[in-house]
Amino acid sequence: MKNILVTGGLGFIGSHTVVELCDQGYNPVIVDNLSNSKIEVHDRIDRIASKSVSFEEGDLRDKAFTERVFDKFKFEGVIHFAASKAVGESVEKPLLYYENNLTSLVNILEQAKRHETSNFIFSSSCTVYGQPDRLPVDESFPKLPAESPYGNTKQIGEEIIQDFCKANSAFKAISLRYFNPVGAHESAMIGELPLGVPANLVPFITQTAAGIRSQLSIFGGDYNTPDGTCIRDYIHVVDLAKAHVLALEYSSRMNLNYDFFNVGTGKGCSVLDVIKAFESASGEKLNYKIVDRRPGDIEKIYADTNKVNQLLGWKAEKGLNEMMKSAWEWQKKLAID
Ligand code: UD1
Repeated sequence: MKNILVTGGLGFIGSHTVVELCDQGYNPVIVDNLSNSKIEVHDRIDRIASKSVSFEEGDLRDKAFTERVFDKFKFEGVIHFAASKAVGESVEKPLLYYENNLTSLVNILEQAKRHETSNFIFSSSCTVYGQPDRLPVDESFPKLPAESPYGNTKQIGEEIIQDFCKANSAFKAISLRYFNPVGAHESAMIGELPLGVPANLVPFITQTAAGIRSQLSIFGGDYNTPDGTCIRDYIHVVDLAKAHVLALEYSSRMNLNYDFFNVGTGKGCSVLDVIKAFESASGEKLNYKIVDRRPGDIEKIYADTNKVNQLLGWKAEKGLNEMMKSAWEWQKKLAID
């Protein structure tokens, strides 16, 4: 049974990935500081996976803690999710983002070197591309200057890993550049748990439908897109979780040093497409209005997925309808719990 360290394993993408790892016979070890997650998620993961998943509570900025975790378990791979991810907050508190997202990364790489743990999967983002000049965007596109400290931590994170790989030729690392992860596990036992007012579209939609928010604001109706609203590549979180397991397998099997992949569906959907899909999947009518553009938003982006399809053998299986249905089931379950 292979021990895999999953940092941020109680978070949105982390928790779904832990479930998929269990499904594929791995032995995930969750490390989480509960800064943006709840301890109840651990119990729910155990229930879905029908096993007791190891959990260490602590902060990976703490070198001594990170060292203790690596000393306690012999890891065969690391999936590193633990990071702050709110774009707006990162603009307000840049040092928090640089410190949190980068110090933990450096500490983990240091320990991975000390313990000769290879197979490192990094949670990156399509934000590294900025607004590409053509679409779909593939991995050969240049990285553009980041729009926010959050985005910059993803770019710098990738560079740190790449430099580390150059200096350590036996080390293997993969960055996965996620597009827009949404949805929830089919059990409706785990999903996204936004703190306070959600900044992201889908949690705002489900909270509006649930009556927690009175109205959804669509940020901009005058973009150069077919319906005037922004276009993104929304991907089901369970599909995304599966990509991590395949990346881990690819890394163990291949003679690679550093590589990176887009993880999206390849389909661009507008904000209005998402709203329509939500209304049809949930049977709820959504109260929304079009307001001014949100500063920093790019107009449109969606992935070229050829590389991930061919090399990892991964393909998104779930469509927008399943994303919205599962997000809504999760939201309704939250209201009961
Ligand atoms: C952002 C980040 C991305 C990060 C992701 C998750 C950028 C460019 N992108 O993606 O790196 O991984 O958050 O934290 O920094 N929208 C509304 N009303 C709302 C909320 C959103 O109309 O109340 C619209 C936005 O204008 C956008 C789309 O919905 O067009 C998706 O927004 P959001 O869910 O916030 O994700 P991104 O901004 O694409």
